[in-house]
Amino acid sequence: MIKYAILGFGTVGRGVAEVMAGQKEKLAAAAGEALELGYILVRRDMPDSPWKDRMVRDFSVIERDPDVAVVAEVIGGVGAAYDYSRRAILAGKSVVSSNKELVATHGLELAALAKEHGVSYLFEGSVGGGIPLLRPLCRCLAANRIDEVYGILNGTTNYILTAMDEKGQDFAQALRKAQELGYAEADPTADVEGIDACRKTAILADLSFGHNLDPADIPTTGITTVAAVDLELARTLGYTVKLLGRAKRTENGCLAFVQPHLVPLSHNLASVNGVMNACAIRGSAVGEVVLCGPGAGSHPTASAVSADIADAVRHRADPVVPDMGAPGGTVAAESALVSPWYVRADAAPEAVEALFSGVKPVYSTTGECGFITGPMDRLAAEKLLAGLDGRALWRVLA
Ligand code: HSE
Repeated sequence: MIKYAILGFGTVGRGVAEVMAGQKEKLAAAAGEALELGYILVRRDMPDSPWKDRMVRDFSVIERDPDVAVVAEVIGGVGAAYDYSRRAILAGKSVVSSNKELVATHGLELAALAKEHGVSYLFEGSVGGGIPLLRPLCRCLAANRIDEVYGILNGTTNYILTAMDEKGQDFAQALRKAQELGYAEADPTADVEGIDACRKTAILADLSFGHNLDPADIPTTGITTVAAVDLELARTLGYTVKLLGRAKRTENGCLAFVQPHLVPLSHNLASVNGVMNACAIRGSAVGEVVLCGPGAGSHPTASAVSADIADAVRHRADPVVPDMGAPGGTVAAESALVSPWYVRADAAPEAVEALFSGVKPVYSTTGECGFITGPMDRLAAEKLLAGLDGRALWRVLA
């Protein structure tokens, strides 16, 4: 019997306790031995919880128990989560995590520490929630040079954009509904400003291209400036709007960015709606693989965390630590990437034709003009736009 501990008992922590209990035998078979929930680290007493006898408030109780082999860190943030993860590794315990902020900012250091101390450090649940994504990327696609990873990496923003598209809601209405349904936090900044997707993009890039990126270096634009009229114009043009995190191998290093994109309605990602996530991986041998599923939520994320716990136990004698890339990776200039662009402007058809010959604009019910340019880099698109009253300029996924 091997003990594990859960650090944090919010939505994900509770889900891990429930999923581990619900699939006890299957997970024991996966781990190679029986697993027992030893402790749950909480900040306040929960006398009504069925797990109240496992709850502790002092991390050192877990740290000092030699029978605890794995610690699941589902606290979030980089304060206590970072401190406890380090201390657990130093105490010879494997750490599994769904905390994308911690993995994106300190994953390299924690992975090195885990290697040094002969324990596993696993974080499948940190990107794509319940979607099996990081193992397929690192293990099943090991025979590929990864050329690009891109996808819908945030459920809250995808819910909002879907509601704007399907129900004609404006951003504020859709955000309020997302908050009512419990998808968006009371402070939705990290989701709607693209920060959460940026952290996940950094992790995907680290695992794909051999360089460890600082999320602060990844240009990030959220969805707060997406207007209902953009969804209307996009649909008329044959597209929908999605917030994409993209990381791409280029001659000048790794290119990574997060931006709203127009996605053709015929593309796999266009039908990924609501809180679902999807990630496309382009590999040199396999071509393009798309993995899709629930990107957030209690049991979906717990599905990934619980499997990591079992894997860490299974590999106690042969620890698993993903390669987070070499330190100091630089991000290539986003502006140099050539793509078609979506433009929303207050312009007559002749004005558009004069600047972009052969381009046919469409008009919204409110009279705003939208059109798609030919392929060009950002500076060229912005220069050509200077003559129009441009209001939105986003890349088109080609
Ligand atoms: N806030 C995140 C989302 C949770 O909406 O996708 C999962 O990382």
